[in-house]
Order: sequence, then structure tokens, then C-alpha cells
Amino acid sequence: MNLYRKSYAEINLHHLKSNLSWIRSHFPKENFLCPMVKANGYGHGDVIVAKCLEAEGVNHMGVCLIEEALWLHQAGIKSNILVFRGFDKQGAEEIIERGFVPVVSQWDHLEFLTQANKGKAISIHVKFDTGMNRLGFPVKEASKIDEYLWQNKNFRLKGVLTHLHSGEDGLDPNGKTQEQLASLAQVVPIFKKFSPVVHTLNSAGVLAKVAAEKQKSKVVFEPTLGVRPGLLLYGYAPKMNFANEFQSEVKPVMTLKSHLSEIRFVNKGSGVSYSHTWVAKKDSVIGIVPIGYADGVHRNLSNKGLVSVHGQLVPIIGNICMDYLMIDLTPIMNLKIEKNDGVILFGYNDQLGYQQTAANYADVLGTIPWEVLTSMSIRVPRVIVESSL
Ligand SMILES: Cc1ncc(COP(=O)(O)O)c(C=O)c1O
Repeated sequence: MNLYRKSYAEINLHHLKSNLSWIRSHFPKENFLCPMVKANGYGHGDVIVAKCLEAEGVNHMGVCLIEEALWLHQAGIKSNILVFRGFDKQGAEEIIERGFVPVVSQWDHLEFLTQANKGKAISIHVKFDTGMNRLGFPVKEASKIDEYLWQNKNFRLKGVLTHLHSGEDGLDPNGKTQEQLASLAQVVPIFKKFSPVVHTLNSAGVLAKVAAEKQKSKVVFEPTLGVRPGLLLYGYAPKMNFANEFQSEVKPVMTLKSHLSEIRFVNKGSGVSYSHTWVAKKDSVIGIVPIGYADGVHRNLSNKGLVSVHGQLVPIIGNICMDYLMIDLTPIMNLKIEKNDGVILFGYNDQLGYQQTAANYADVLGTIPWEVLTSMSIRVPRVIVESSL
């Protein structure tokens, strides 16, 4: 692919594989593993991520939409694709036709699948709401569902799951996470005759489990619990007071790069960008970087965010534009800065380490790294690198 504009997201597959293997190393091999590749693989490129995971022996992956599942299927992904979002009858037909695995979370999903089915066996996972109050059957309906599935022989119950909403309290014996796990544990024996896998651990849950074992905590996680990691796989540990130490165990997979398309000199008192929200306090040297909010560099980073040039952090100045942002190069002009020199917005490499990651951008923006990563726009090319950096 020609990069006419040298602004791109470098996707380091070595980091992805090493994050995967760190996660795997904390669970028995036979535990269910379903990396989440929804939202374009958390912004990294779902096909790139899915192909890499498949080559590493992963055979289940999670998406939200049927559309996402179709896209992966068309790209040749052979794994079982779990579709987490609900669907109507038309969606049920597509799911059955393509052999996707629906995560069923309400009665009409079962009805749509029954109506759409033409005698095929349908593998499903059933989701219970243990406190998130978003998707899933109430726990008290477990026996009724069991009965329904037993009567409707086309269904193959492969998995039972719930979604943790407050993994940060995972080590608190009286916390919400333990409460959710206890509710799930009530449901599981009801479906014993189907021998489903049981899965629930998102990134926060994974770290809670690892920390509990490391700290020999009173809290014990059921050893067979299945894992659905998202953020951690992409190199970020969710912020949790017991898990800070784990950030260095995983490496950010995406590095957002651009370059200095121009260097300009502005006199003291000159304003930069729309509405002149930055005015030079002295004669200054500024860099024009061809990447903007239409690429996913949030405009609220204007006059707040930093970028890295020659390994030094310099500020974004003035309002970020749709296609450009400007930076103040004045403090680092001693480094022989030249047009076309590289600019790193965030990521991880030997220059940056962890000093400027999507988590830093999230902190400045008052949001979470999930949002920064998944906001990366489709017009930013994803460029694969395999090296360990
Ligand atoms: C159902 C489900 N499981 C797992 C995950 C992965 O979560 P995380 O990125 O926190 O690991 C998500 C993400 O939103 C999800 O919706």
C-alpha cells in the first residue's frame, strides 16, 4: 500500500503475540479463550488481529455485530466467531447460514433462531445478567432456559457466561465482582448435562485472578473460568489499584506515527490554528503534523496533548484540525529537527517505552484507553510490523 501521507498506525504483531502468551500463561491450556476483536480489533484492524490470533492457535473470537462477523468471515477467518449483540429474525438467518455462534441473551433470540432454523444444529452461548444490567437473562430464569434447550434439540449449548462490570474490586471478597461470580456459579450446575464452557474474565477479571494468586488473596477464582480479554491483549492493563505492576507485562500493540510535513517560524504574538487559541509567547518554531481529528486524534487534545519527536515530548499547540495538528518545536530545535522527521503520537517502542501511550491520551481527555484505541479512524492505514522493538 502506498502511503502518500505518512501518517499511520503501526501494529506490532510481536507485541500482540507476547500479550496473548502472557494471558495464556496464567490459565490452564484447556480453558475457554475468546479474545475480543470487535470494533475493528479495538482499532488495530480486526482482520490483521484475527489472522495473527488464528496463527497462534486461537479458535474463538468475539465481535459485537453480525456485520463484524461477516467481514471477518469474508476475510477468511475460520475460527468460531461469537456474536455478542442481539439480533432479529433476519440476523438469526445470517448467523445460522454462516455458522456464527450467537450469544443469546433474551427469549426472542431463541425464538428467532428457532424460526430461522431449517433443522440444523445451532451452537449457542447463553448470557446471564449478574449485575451489569445491560444484556443477559435474569439468573432466576436459568431453569426455564435449561428446560427450553432440552426440549428444542437443535440447540447445542456450548457456553454460559456473564460480563463483569467492576473488575477493579476483584480482590475484595465482598465486592461486586465476587458477587457476580457467585451468581454465575449458581447458574452453572443447572446446565451440567450440556457440559458448557463457562466464561467471564475480561481484562480486569484476568488481572484480578492473576493478582489474587500472586498475593495469595482470600479471594479464589474458579480455575476453569474462561477468558474474554480485550484491552489487555492490545497492551493495556485497566487501571486498578492492585494491577499497576501488570502494565509492564504487556506491550501496547499500536503506535500512532506521523511526520513533520512542514516546519514554520512564527513571530512572538502570532496565533496558530483555528481561533488562535495558542499565541506564541516568543519567536517560535512550529511543526505541522498531517494527522487530525478525522483520523481519531481527539480535538480535546488541543493545547493539552503531547507528541514525541526525536524521543522528546513536545506540546500540541492550537486547535487540532480535521487533517492536521501543530506542535511547538522551539524547545528541541537544538536536536537538528528537519522536515519529514518522524512524530510519534502514542504507542510503545524503544524510544517511548510507556511514557506516551493511549492511556496518557485517555488521561488528558478524561476518558479510557478503550475509547482512544477504538476511535482510530478507518482512514489511518494500519501497517504491520513483526519485530520486538
Ligand atoms: C462481553 C464482553 N466480554 C469481554 C470484553 C472485553 O473487555 P476488556 O476490553 O475490558 O478486556 C468486552 C468488552 O467490552 C465485552 O463486551
